[in-house]
Amino acid sequence: MTESLTARVEQTLLTVVNARTGTSVLASDQVRDVATSTAGRVQLTLLLGANDDPTLARDVRQAVEALDGVTDVRVNVVDAATDPRAQHGAAAAAPPAPKRAPLPMMAEPAAAPRPVPAPTPSAFPALGKIIAISSGKGGVGKSTVTVNLAVALAKLGRHVGLLDADIYGPNVPRMMGVMTAPPVENEKIVPPEAHGVKLMSLGFMIERDQPAIWRGPIVMKIINQFLRDVRWGRLDYLFVDMPPGTGDAQLSLVQAAHLAGAVIVTTPQEVAVGDALRGAKMFERVGVPVLGVVENMSWFELANGDKMPIFGSGGGARLALELGVPLLGEIPLWQPVREGGDSGTPIVISAPDSPAARAMTAVAEMLERR
Ligand SMILES: Nc1ncnc2c1ncn2[C@@H]1O[C@H](COP(=O)(O)OP(=O)(O)OP(=O)(O)O)[C@@H](O)[C@H]1O
Ligand SMILES: [Mg+2]
Repeated sequence: MTESLTARVEQTLLTVVNARTGTSVLASDQVRDVATSTAGRVQLTLLLGANDDPTLARDVRQAVEALDGVTDVRVNVVDAATDPRAQHGAAAAAPPAPKRAPLPMMAEPAAAPRPVPAPTPSAFPALGKIIAISSGKGGVGKSTVTVNLAVALAKLGRHVGLLDADIYGPNVPRMMGVMTAPPVENEKIVPPEAHGVKLMSLGFMIERDQPAIWRGPIVMKIINQFLRDVRWGRLDYLFVDMPPGTGDAQLSLVQAAHLAGAVIVTTPQEVAVGDALRGAKMFERVGVPVLGVVENMSWFELANGDKMPIFGSGGGARLALELGVPLLGEIPLWQPVREGGDSGTPIVISAPDSPAARAMTAVAEMLERR
């Protein structure tokens, strides 16, 4: 992210022209020390020659401020004549001004950084309870759980939406058996419906196998668009399938919308639990309650009915205890669960009476009671 913002800053500086040199401040070699932060702060040094128009500093600042995702801009203006690094280049070529006082800093001193206001989350009353499904580690079964929870609640007669916010591997469309891009009517995206659930996914918007170039500001925009510009109708629940960890998507979501809560999915494994704890804490820090923990891949049922704890046991319960939230359910590892995901028919539809489907449905019912 930092790299890409730096590149964009430099690109925009190519458009700020110094009237004296007739070329951009970048080409005139007047820019030094471009630094960017993941939070969108930009700092740079501008070398101004005696004959340069001082409003150039303002132009530079405004150009950078106009960039998407930029939250704060500092332009440190330095007299080109006194800057030891300006040995060559157009800025230094200007005759030095006699006894010139250093130019003022264009921003507050670094000691008092302006706090970056986080966007205020909006309420979306028509979307019902917005629930994020998250995990610390990847591949623990978030998407599988999300899809089955959504379909289970739709089967119970609820109006359910499903938003796939996984910017790295949006696979809800495949799990729901929908692969066509949604139509747009009157500037609203019409979400396709599958198994009684309306769904929207980044997978509809990006080409398969396209590198995940989505960065913070873009994710924020898309999540906002998905909340505002999709014709969800009236929902009781909107489930949001997250990428693993605590990245841009999580941050964007909690900044965009009031969440009813988050559900944390983990496997029984110790390492997955540790990661999940960190993920859960992130939600708590921003005031989003953790509604409960779902332990997935809890055991594998052998032919004789014995339960084999392939990934260890007790992780979900430990995590729930640690967080002071209920363990909403334990889902067995069962091949048809994966097959259901691959074929677009979730297990609560294809084998509703199986232990795995019953465990998913029980989680949905428990969640509804919370
Ligand atoms: N209970 C289960 N039994 C068998 N296979 C499962 C089960 N849960 C998930 N899987 C399979 O494990 C794989 C990973 O699951 P899934 O994609 O839901 O995880 P995820 O946490 O969403 O992953 P990512 O972090 O990549 O988004 C999938 O192939 C899925 O079908
Ligand atoms: Mg997933």
